[in-house]
Amino acid sequence: MTVLLGVGGGIAAYKVCELLRLLTESGHDVQPIPTESALRFVGTATWEALSGHRVATEVWTAVPDVPHVRLGRAAELIVVAPATADLLAKAAHGLADDLLTATLLTARCPVLYAPAMHTEMWEHPATQDNVQTLRRRGGIVMDPAVGRLTGADSGPGRLPEPAEIADLARLLLARPDALPRDLSGVRVLISAGGTREPLDPVRFLGNRSSGRQGWALAAVAAARGALVSVVAANVGLAVPAGVDVLRVGTAEQLHTAMLGAAARADVVVMAAAVADFRPQEARRHKIKKDGQEPDPVVLVRNPDILTELVARRRTGQLIIGFAAETGDADGDVLAHGRAKLARKGCDLLVVNAVGEGGAFEVDTNEAVILGADGTQVDVAHGLKSQLAAAVWDAVSARLAGLSR
Ligand code: CTP
Repeated sequence: MTVLLGVGGGIAAYKVCELLRLLTESGHDVQPIPTESALRFVGTATWEALSGHRVATEVWTAVPDVPHVRLGRAAELIVVAPATADLLAKAAHGLADDLLTATLLTARCPVLYAPAMHTEMWEHPATQDNVQTLRRRGGIVMDPAVGRLTGADSGPGRLPEPAEIADLARLLLARPDALPRDLSGVRVLISAGGTREPLDPVRFLGNRSSGRQGWALAAVAAARGALVSVVAANVGLAVPAGVDVLRVGTAEQLHTAMLGAAARADVVVMAAAVADFRPQEARRHKIKKDGQEPDPVVLVRNPDILTELVARRRTGQLIIGFAAETGDADGDVLAHGRAKLARKGCDLLVVNAVGEGGAFEVDTNEAVILGADGTQVDVAHGLKSQLAAAVWDAVSARLAGLSR
């Protein structure tokens, strides 16, 4: 699919080479449109070599082609990264003094802005107003990441990770309507990853959850305007921009963190894979073989966090569970899902079939979203972010129903 990559004049332009790579490697035809000042940071040769396309910064190149109109009409997505304060201002005000800004006016496809600038510039009311204007018109403006900036200073203003921008871009290419700003101000709490229950200082009982689905839920919710907190159990992925993360290890730690934070949340999602049992005792010293037969490991039950969250639910709070199921002699995946939804008492249960390489440690997923109100939404095999978007669609519809 045809993606235009608008590159602004900021130091983060060098990271956008990686973004260009990620997008072309996922099979998309990417046309970079750097601004004149972007070329001060990364030169024409780099953009042309990485994309396989000639690049121009102004409308006076290949005039008979009317490039800004041709590019704008062909584009299925425009990604602007780094979206500098100047570019956001120009886009918000409809200025069109170079190829990129003129193309932003001719295009009718989704536009994803990944801002990068100094904290003062990001927080300035002029920039914040411009961001609001763009969002109100349907532009998708990511929050910048928090961290080290150009010099020794740090704060909000870093370019979100190229992989995260690429994930949202892929989502928009698969589903152009996936990122409406319908969760503005909604406080979302998500558990992600998989718990580890220690046997001794070096060993644990764990599971194969990587945290990718929880991360996708967080990134998509943040892009839709939610205030997102994640409790992450053993997740080794980069934190999505604009998301608060609290790290835990065991089911008991996850339990404490989720129950503590849930009181402040409008929506709680239990996407983490929680160990149902833990070793009764975590040995203080490494278990040695000593030529002897091993001792049996005695397991005790962990709390069922989802059930407790449901029991303490505030009025109007939505609670969403996940279920990884395989069919067996007692029923198929969906039958198990429906029984679990009833047992857990949550509002939505996202059921995915596991086994045969599905669901774990990969970027794709396939699921059915069951509602306590009897609804069923089948989500076809696709990106984890697509499943995340379908979950937020279901949440958003319920929140709209509650506020009526
Ligand atoms: N869950 C939880 N606390 C646990 C176990 C699971 O909060 N101790 C949550 C998971 O995060 C998920 C949902 O419950 O959202 C279903 O998890 P699953 O492992 O499928 O369900 P179990 O209750 O463990 O049921 P079973 O293992 O019997 O299928």
